[in-house]
Amino acid sequence: MSAPQIPDITSTDPWKELEQHKAELAPDLRTWFNEDPDRAEEFTVQAGDLVADLSKNLLTPRTRELLLQLADAADVEGRRDSMFAGEHINVTEDRAVLHTALRRPEGSEPSLRVDGQDIDEDVHEVLAKVYDFADRVRSGEWTGITGRPIETVVNIGIGGSDLGPVMAYEALKTFAQDGLTARFISNIDPTDAAETVADLDPETTLFIVASKTFGTLETLTNARVCRTWLLDRLKESGAHEGSDNEAVAKHFVAVSTALDKVEAFGIDPENAFGFWNWVGGRYSVDSAIGTSLAIVLGPDAFEEFLAGFHAMDEHFRTAPAEKNLPILMGLLNVWYVNFFDASSHAVLPYDQHLHRFPAYLQQLTMESNGKSVRWDGTPVTTQTGEIFWGEPGTNGQHAFYQLIHQGTRVIPADFIAFANPSHPVKDGDTDVHELFLANFFAQTKALAFGKTADEVRAEGTDEAVVPARVFSGNRPTTSIMAPELTPSVLGQLIALYEHITFVQGTIWGIDSFDQWGVELGKQLAKDLAPAVGGDTAALDQEDSSTKGLISYYLDRRTR
Ligand code: F6P
Repeated sequence: MSAPQIPDITSTDPWKELEQHKAELAPDLRTWFNEDPDRAEEFTVQAGDLVADLSKNLLTPRTRELLLQLADAADVEGRRDSMFAGEHINVTEDRAVLHTALRRPEGSEPSLRVDGQDIDEDVHEVLAKVYDFADRVRSGEWTGITGRPIETVVNIGIGGSDLGPVMAYEALKTFAQDGLTARFISNIDPTDAAETVADLDPETTLFIVASKTFGTLETLTNARVCRTWLLDRLKESGAHEGSDNEAVAKHFVAVSTALDKVEAFGIDPENAFGFWNWVGGRYSVDSAIGTSLAIVLGPDAFEEFLAGFHAMDEHFRTAPAEKNLPILMGLLNVWYVNFFDASSHAVLPYDQHLHRFPAYLQQLTMESNGKSVRWDGTPVTTQTGEIFWGEPGTNGQHAFYQLIHQGTRVIPADFIAFANPSHPVKDGDTDVHELFLANFFAQTKALAFGKTADEVRAEGTDEAVVPARVFSGNRPTTSIMAPELTPSVLGQLIALYEHITFVQGTIWGIDSFDQWGVELGKQLAKDLAPAVGGDTAALDQEDSSTKGLISYYLDRRTR
């Protein structure tokens, strides 16, 4: 597929003006806040239930103006509209990009037709099937082969077929139905499956094999391992001595775009939930890939989750650019990556339930924008794709925040917190959530305003130690808050980052929806199988490093 050549963003006027502006800008958040008491208000944006304070970023109204011009130069809004309309903006795979259609409410007008298909009808047909199945599992109508109700749902998937469900399950655990839990197997390291199922009762366990392609080595291997575990354990205990297929039919369902492969694997297509190739793996948690969530949290919670996504979609689609949160946050990321040489971006959720959110965002952002070629096939003209990372506060504070506060690199950081805790707890008279939030507020304040040498001296610090205790400040942060972490708010947060990723990709001219970069490793792993299995002729073909490493393994393996 060849696409029309796209202009070089670095040759546009706004880019050049931003370069000039950066050269003249001496970021000084203390002064900016002192001189403009309305700065916080000026740079705070409400999107659905999320309030984002961008004021502690290294920007002035002029920076914002130029960044918005840059968005115009890259036609961010035009490309956004093309995405929502189902145009094939995933050029290298010649596909529409329609994760936003997964959360359109039933009966939306006008309905969405793409490539001759009524997308809304397709989406709601599958959702109805997922919800019906979820209700049957939740009510106990669907049982395991011995007639006992399901207590544990194990999602077997990897990448987008794992990270979304596991992250959302961890985030929304408090909404789970009593007596129902979810577990997740992803890694082909046999430890993952072995330890995840070790204490489970096969009679009450339901496996969901989640794979868009149904061709992923890890997932299919783990599915077979779990199938063997199920059948062996049922036989050992004498719980089921009948046909294997009958047992598999009651304990295995699948989610995939490749329903033919599901059947070939031995899962009844009746028990399979489909989706479409216009949903990227890392954009799929709101498709049938979320079946584990629909079962454990319930269809109502899943509907709320989808409504949250949709609220953010509508904000992204309709809010004016200067108040459009994904556009502004995407532009700020470009500002830091390309004009401040920032190579990483921290995401720091002040909520234990979001402990997998940074890992989820790693796939979303890095698999999307870790590219060096533009969608017209030409090389990128500037740095792309920063490294996303993070841990929940306050754990991070006692680990890596030192580098954010006093290191030599610019690390933009998003701080996320909720006004209400999932578990209100008192320590004596002290509200523990209050203590937690005090840390959240303190960190962005310290990063923005720092501590001068004079302030350090005023504390009576020995002069020799003063430099080590100075905080430069002017370390950029965005604070995102919402009333509480609900399914809707989680949907809004995910959609926010999906669209931020899209905005950055569009500025850089990147197809954020393919992932060719993961293919070579997969191919080589297959090619190396004979050598790893001990075939000396195959081993001899390898380069000296690979040969040495495989030989180390072959010489030492004892089991
Ligand atoms: O290897 C990358 C990838 O293709 C991801 O994009 C995807 O989420 C993951 O593998 C799993 O793929 P599948 O859902 O087809 O098993």
